[in-house]
Amino acid sequence: MNGRRDGPLMRNSSQGSTKSKIGTAIFIGVLLGFVFAFLFPGGVFKSSSLSIRDSRSVKFITQTDSSSCDSSERIDMLKSEFISASEKNAQLEKQIRELTEKLKLAEQGKDHAEKQVLSLGKQSKAGPFGTIKGLRTNPPVIPDESVNPRLAKILEKVAINRELIVAVANSNVKAMLEVWFTSIKKAGIPNYLVVALDDEIVQFCTKNDVPVYKRDPDEKVDSIGRTGGNHAVSGTKFRILREFLQLGYGVLLSDVDIVYLQNPFNHLYRDSDVESMTDGHDNATAYGYNHVFEEPAMGWARFAHTMRIWVYNSGFFYIRPTIPAIELLDRVANRLSRERNSWDQAVFNEELFFPSHANYEGLYASRRTMDFYLFMNSKVLFKTVRKDDNLKKLKPVIVHVNYHPDKFPRMKAVVDFYVNGKQDALDPFPDGSDW
Ligand SMILES: *[C@@H]1O[C@H](CO)[C@@H](O)[C@H](O)[C@H]1NC(C)=O
Repeated sequence: MNGRRDGPLMRNSSQGSTKSKIGTAIFIGVLLGFVFAFLFPGGVFKSSSLSIRDSRSVKFITQTDSSSCDSSERIDMLKSEFISASEKNAQLEKQIRELTEKLKLAEQGKDHAEKQVLSLGKQSKAGPFGTIKGLRTNPPVIPDESVNPRLAKILEKVAINRELIVAVANSNVKAMLEVWFTSIKKAGIPNYLVVALDDEIVQFCTKNDVPVYKRDPDEKVDSIGRTGGNHAVSGTKFRILREFLQLGYGVLLSDVDIVYLQNPFNHLYRDSDVESMTDGHDNATAYGYNHVFEEPAMGWARFAHTMRIWVYNSGFFYIRPTIPAIELLDRVANRLSRERNSWDQAVFNEELFFPSHANYEGLYASRRTMDFYLFMNSKVLFKTVRKDDNLKKLKPVIVHVNYHPDKFPRMKAVVDFYVNGKQDALDPFPDGSDW
């Protein structure tokens, strides 16, 4: 290719008749050669790394030079350069397509799942039939004491095996709280804590030697805690619980309309993010069943199958310190603060159970339903158990008076029946409420 630069000059210099003319011509030629070499040190036409546009201009020049004997060779070379350039171009286009696709996925947040799977690390082959098991016991978070050093100190003293019962209470529920902690003491459970929402409860607990913790002021949560009704106070607990989990503790969240008869920590499985008591009253409603919905107008296809389960009771559940569990608390607290008229138990269940669809991302925390005879709701007790001679003999772990508005007298009756041995203590009460 270098020949192309001085080729025409050589032809010019070879024309002439006398020696001196030739000498002058050679001199001028050499001089011009120097000038060109100085002005274009890389060559007049660059030969390396041709783009498509370059190769076209080169083609035009070779056509004017078509008399030279190596032109066909050159054309071949340029052709191959053109081909390799087109290949490079196609590669770049493919890269652009891939990057655009990735960008689109990232915008939709859909690459999140893939990243999560990759971050879980080791991929493995599935084992033989019947031997494989998915993950339901998520790893606990690394405890972060900096979120609340004062609470961390309290929990160090109160918790056993990094677990404890937690109740949130204001002075509206003082009478029930007393039955609550008296039953806990009687059952010999040392690891429990009352989160007091007002000073009266702090004093009441201190006086009764009950472990108590009052949070640092947080106006957003506190105004609900002071003045809020039953549902509103229930809502604040999801915010309050977060710190316990961040500190690395498993919490058995407990309403105060609950009587303890045995130590619940001896009856937990601890294999799920959330292990909850149920509002169900038998195997089907507590653990799930196939409910057939009938629509006669559909004729042949008149039966549609549905999956049903009675809701989890958001007044008594064990929650492990895991990422999905903390996400659940955040999602519920977030929705309760935005949807003023929502019921925390409905929101809690919707977040736990609804699958992803369209732009909605489901939670997929792992769940376990507690045994409904051991962790008994008051419908099971008053509608079934108290009328069945065998079931009557079983001692539940707890009884939750969630199904009845006359909570306080029924709580005392439960204590009388199971603790004080008064066989007729439950008899005066109707199955449901009288109204
Ligand atoms: C409910 O399930 C348990 C096992 O989980 C079983 O032993 C019991 O017989 C079932 N009860 C009924 C009424 O089907």
